[in-house]
Amino acid sequence: MDAVPQDAGPPDWALAEIDALMARGAAFLGSRYAIMGGAMSWVSERHLVSALSNAGAFGVIACGAMEPPRLAEEIAATQAMTDKPFGVNLITMHPRLDQLVQTCLEAKVGHIVFAGGIPPGAAIKAAKEGGAKVVCFAPALALAKKLVRSGADALVIEGSEAGGHIGPVSLNVLAQEILPHIREVPVFVAGGIGRGEAILSYLEMGAAGAQIGTRFVCATESIAHPNFKRAFIRGAARDALPTVQLDERFPVIPVRALQNEGTKRFLEHQAETIRRYLAGEVEKAAAQLDIEHFWAGALRRAVIDGDVENGSLMAGQSVGMVTREQPARDIVQELVNQAASALAARRRAS
Ligand SMILES: Cc1cc2nc3c(=O)[nH]c(=O)nc-3n(C[C@H](O)[C@H](O)[C@H](O)COP(=O)(O)O)c2cc1C
Repeated sequence: MDAVPQDAGPPDWALAEIDALMARGAAFLGSRYAIMGGAMSWVSERHLVSALSNAGAFGVIACGAMEPPRLAEEIAATQAMTDKPFGVNLITMHPRLDQLVQTCLEAKVGHIVFAGGIPPGAAIKAAKEGGAKVVCFAPALALAKKLVRSGADALVIEGSEAGGHIGPVSLNVLAQEILPHIREVPVFVAGGIGRGEAILSYLEMGAAGAQIGTRFVCATESIAHPNFKRAFIRGAARDALPTVQLDERFPVIPVRALQNEGTKRFLEHQAETIRRYLAGEVEKAAAQLDIEHFWAGALRRAVIDGDVENGSLMAGQSVGMVTREQPARDIVQELVNQAASALAARRRAS
């Protein structure tokens, strides 16, 4: 085996093989690499999205709770900062979903990602008829097949390792359940991906590319508050835990986040609300709402205001692989180089 200098980048042939493995996903996105920036509410705005697209990845604006005029403004501002393609992530339960789709179409956004539930057929149809490609989240194989039949042009499968709202199944299992069976459309994998070696392994399993959120929070271009970035740099995988539900009568949507004072207070808040319900001081529906409202505005408080004690520090388990602030271009290149170096090392060893 030849000695390879530590600082040598991966050989060109290995980079070319990564390009080949990413070809389908990159062609679908219209980007250099099949790496999607996972939309993150408050974080994925014009600066990070354009930086990712300019770096050869595919930025995605998080619409979150934005109203159509505000989204139009964000899209226009992003278009002013990049001439590369980017997408928009719309939450399906937004009351003005149809208008948001129209806003994307009017601005000639090429890719609409529907998140937070199975999108209504009419929204998929409108997006496609307007010329956009539709990306949907598939939480299980049966739903993946159904979404393809409904017109999804690509799927994201997101494991429970991810930051933010999560399902119950890990990417390791979802990938085995879904990748071998969905060939009709490109499938992007998400959740817990922090290094290129992982991207390589999923590409080899048949994924078209990867969607990554947590790893991009500390991009230099990300407008996340320095306190939020510091929490990510300090955080380890074991600190990024799903919300705990105290009582099955009062369901809590699982959200993976770094533990802080807020997560402790949320447990106390649930306990107190349940106590008030049992004492007959509050109706069940009101108690449920009270629990749901606890986190209202909490992500904004952490990302924008820097309140990392009481705000929500949504983060994936890959947070342990965030070690410093870096330009988006360096993060993307690092991921691609790690994937190519892993290929090259394997070839040298055989
Ligand atoms: C702070 C934060 C906010 C997020 N907000 C959204 C969102 O608004 N819409 C969405 O579809 N996904 C959201 N996600 C999930 C990401 O788009 C992405 O799928 C996820 O981060 C991938 O897992 P990873 O964090 O392990 O890379 C969010 C994730 C984080 C960490």
